[in-house]
Amino acid sequence: MPAMKIIQTPGGDFTQKVEARLKQLRFHPDFLRERNEEVINLTREFIESGGKREEIHKLRGQGHVEASRLWQACSEYALIKDTYPARVRFLSELLKYIGGVTKDRPKVADDGCGGGVDLFCLTHILGDAVELVGVDPDGFALNVARDRNPGLELRESLGDAGKFDLVYCDFVDWGRGRMTEYDVDGKRDEWSAALAEGGLLIQNVDFPDWQRETYKDIISTSFNPLRDELIQTIPEFEDCHLIVFEKK
Ligand SMILES: C[S@@+](CC[C@H](N)C(=O)[O-])C[C@H]1O[C@@H](n2cnc3c(N)ncnc32)[C@H](O)[C@@H]1O
Repeated sequence: MPAMKIIQTPGGDFTQKVEARLKQLRFHPDFLRERNEEVINLTREFIESGGKREEIHKLRGQGHVEASRLWQACSEYALIKDTYPARVRFLSELLKYIGGVTKDRPKVADDGCGGGVDLFCLTHILGDAVELVGVDPDGFALNVARDRNPGLELRESLGDAGKFDLVYCDFVDWGRGRMTEYDVDGKRDEWSAALAEGGLLIQNVDFPDWQRETYKDIISTSFNPLRDELIQTIPEFEDCHLIVFEKK
């Protein structure tokens, strides 16, 4: 018996709440303080040069202090620029599932929480309705997430954090052409161990079709795929695929 049911047609106010919150966020004093022109320009250069990832990895490799700042800038950039409609759309989709969890206070992990923008939005939208935990193996990203989400539990792995009702992953790195090099079996087992009976694994990915199918095959030994759908395409942004799995 699954621990939760899924609401297929959400109340329209979920989307409205997300939109209202994100609009507010764009003018939040903390947000404006962090978003200085220099950082935005630096980030834009990285993105436009196509070298963003490599540069960031290089900086991280050197333990460069700027890496943390870049992390912050990249996630702000995502909010204010091209990815804004996609983020609203995606968070609305995610909230449908969280809203469908029958427990009073479901436990939700953002696995690969990065700089914690989604955590910030979810905290403000959901308040105490959900117990949120942010997870990221990248210490730089976690520091940014910590600044942005004081008081929230943040950790380097799902590890012994207890059982979750829902694990959410937003563009975690294994989707970027590197999935075949990545230990997907290990990650699947980690998710499976961390999820409660009938728990949901929700992923926002941009894998090419062939990779998605391989990925689903691997994951399907422990999970039933419930949904795989393109949810947003805008010219400046990658295709977003929402994949939802239920723990067997
Ligand atoms: C696109 S970012 C997520 C951004 C985030 N949703 C936000 O709101 O700021 C993807 C994250 O996945 C993390 N990641 C990479 N490999 C991971 C793994 N094996 N487990 C968990 N997170 C991982 C990366 O460090 C990165 O922070």
